[in-house]
Amino acid sequence: MAPLDDAKPVATPDEEGTAASGGGRFLKAIYVYEVPVRVWHWVNALAITVLSVTGYLIANPLPSMPGEASANFLMGYIRFVHFAAAYIFAIGFIGRLYWAFAGNHHARQLFRFPFWDRHWWGELFLEARWYLFLERKPKLYVGHNPLAQFAMFWAIAVGSVFMIVTGFALYSEGAGLGSWQDRLFGWVIPLFGQSMDVHTWHHMGMWAILLFVIVHIYAAVREDIMSRQSIISTMISGVRTFKDAEAPADEEHERPAKKAAPVG
Ligand code: HEM
Ligand code: HEM
Repeated sequence: MAPLDDAKPVATPDEEGTAASGGGRFLKAIYVYEVPVRVWHWVNALAITVLSVTGYLIANPLPSMPGEASANFLMGYIRFVHFAAAYIFAIGFIGRLYWAFAGNHHARQLFRFPFWDRHWWGELFLEARWYLFLERKPKLYVGHNPLAQFAMFWAIAVGSVFMIVTGFALYSEGAGLGSWQDRLFGWVIPLFGQSMDVHTWHHMGMWAILLFVIVHIYAAVREDIMSRQSIISTMISGVRTFKDAEAPADEEHERPAKKAAPVG
């Protein structure tokens, strides 16, 4: 963690990069989420939304359609959209995994679970107390706070692998014996028991991810208003700005944003 003095934004408004002051407020801007992380975030959010709606309809098909059966292909289209979104979701996840190695250290946070770090657990519980309105003041974080990291690791890093493995196992039943889906994921069906078991686990995986999504969006909006740093705009511009001058709890050797954020 950087000493307090390093983090103190003492710059004039037009000084290159790090900080600006104005109107009695101090702002410090740090470039956190690179373009691939942000593009993946929003594409992935859209893919999950499409997968959940179409998946729900696969599990609970529409009762009936008027006219000849041969004149209708509604469930076929719903399944097609599910599979198209599934490929975007799976390829996006592989791309995001690649970026964990190629990108900055914030890009790795989603895939890290610092189980042995007592300090991290301490801050996780502190953050939980803040969410429960039991703390007066939250800490500042350049990257994700430990509680968000914990939820994202289990719901998205682990959850996506689970949905991809079970999804392609189900897909292999249609693609047929000997298809690449069957060769890579066919073993999953006997592992779970039989096809219906995989359907059920794949379905439950959806509800686990949707639980995360609900809490995640609530937390993003809540923290945007109540925390001491920018939140939603950070996942759009990539830049984190701070509402006061204290050093962030996870600050190491951060790269300042190219341009100081505008001071309002
Ligand atoms: C299906 C919907 C969504 C999913 C699955 C999802 C998932 C994620 C994941 C995995 C991350 C970590 C990014 C990384 O480190 O690579 C993240 C970050 C973030 N998401 Fe979402 N997200 C969803 C929707 C949204 C929405 C609708 C908003 C806006 C209200 C939002 C706001 C954010 C913000 C602000 C961050 C960065 C948090 C921070 O500042 O540290 N997300 N999200
Ligand atoms: C977040 C991601 C995903 C969600 C939320 C999701 C959701 C669902 C749900 C709820 C079902 C119905 C299960 C049931 O029978 O009760 C389903 C079926 C299915 N999903 Fe997914 N899914 C996801 C990812 C994937 C992926 C990556 C694939 C890979 C191709 C996939 C392929 C399938 C297949 C093949 C079925 C069965 C279709 C059928 O029996 O007609 N899914 N999905």
